[in-house]
Amino acid sequence: MPLRSLPERFFDFSVSNRPLAPLTTWGIGGVSRFFLAPRNEEELAAVISLLDREGERFHVLGGGSNLLINDGTIETPVLHTALMNAINVVVESGKILLECGAGTNLKQIFRLALDEAWSGLEFLAGIPGTVGGALMGNAGTKHGTIAESVVAVRTVEANGALLDWDANDIEWGYRTSPFPNLGGRVIVKAVFSLRQSEKEQVLERVKMAITERKSQPHGVKTAGCVFKNPQGDTAGRLLDRSGCKGLSVRGAVVSRKHANFFENAGGATADDMVELVRLCGKRVYDAFGVELKLEIKTMGFEEPFPLR
Ligand code: EPU
Repeated sequence: MPLRSLPERFFDFSVSNRPLAPLTTWGIGGVSRFFLAPRNEEELAAVISLLDREGERFHVLGGGSNLLINDGTIETPVLHTALMNAINVVVESGKILLECGAGTNLKQIFRLALDEAWSGLEFLAGIPGTVGGALMGNAGTKHGTIAESVVAVRTVEANGALLDWDANDIEWGYRTSPFPNLGGRVIVKAVFSLRQSEKEQVLERVKMAITERKSQPHGVKTAGCVFKNPQGDTAGRLLDRSGCKGLSVRGAVVSRKHANFFENAGGATADDMVELVRLCGKRVYDAFGVELKLEIKTMGFEEPFPLR
């Protein structure tokens, strides 16, 4: 049965026809017909079990930093995690356990860790997004991924039940996790394990991470790397060698700094970005015979996202 309206008890944290573009780093996307921003795990569980009973799928929206949202109206309900952003710190025999709500901005965690000289996440410094999004896509750099610092995760399952995961039981992959973005289960919070260190050392490692990312565009509207690196090569190199740098479809432009970053240089629509993604994917395929896979997540397109 299609969801026509939301029960009254969800009114406090829901809105209809919410513009989504401002919630993404690309600044692209239409409006959400059913937009819900639960403030805690009880509200989240209530929404998810209702949607499950009605046979409805839903999207989960975190920091919108790795996401292409389609233009027009997104009819599938969108669950925004931004308000579930509490951080709770427990110090246990020299270990620092940081319990963070799914909607916690990574920036907040990096700031706290730097202020307190807690070590473990420095190599990720500067990566945008929220805890939920970062875990879902197992965000990382060549020095490792966020999964390495996680000791526990709590999710809401499709039937609304809470499930606690031991990090050892979670199957992480290259930019993959058992937490899908089209629900399914939803991350409620995660616990990171950090170590007490010296402020200068943490700062040094943070600076190194930021310096390494100097080859990436900054201060422009991007969504991080668009394609995953194929086995044994990098998407950036292949895109560059096949002449993609500077290619554009109206406001959507391939960065001249790093070919795996696409910019919204002004007024780009989802269609423009899709056309650019396809154009570049085809160039790489024609030149190298490599079929690049999307790293960014998508919302409001047919699944799987048609790359050709
Ligand atoms: N390269 C080019 N031209 C370009 C871009 C890159 O020739 O336009 C070459 C570089 O010279 C280098 C190689 O490609 O030899 C790899 O480039 P880089 O060091 O920039 O790393 P990457 O593989 O493109 C990965 C992650 C990034 C992460 C960096 C730094 C993926 C898809 N990307 O990029 O993560 O920040 O390493 O650790 O895994 C993201 O996930 O969104 C992301 C940006």
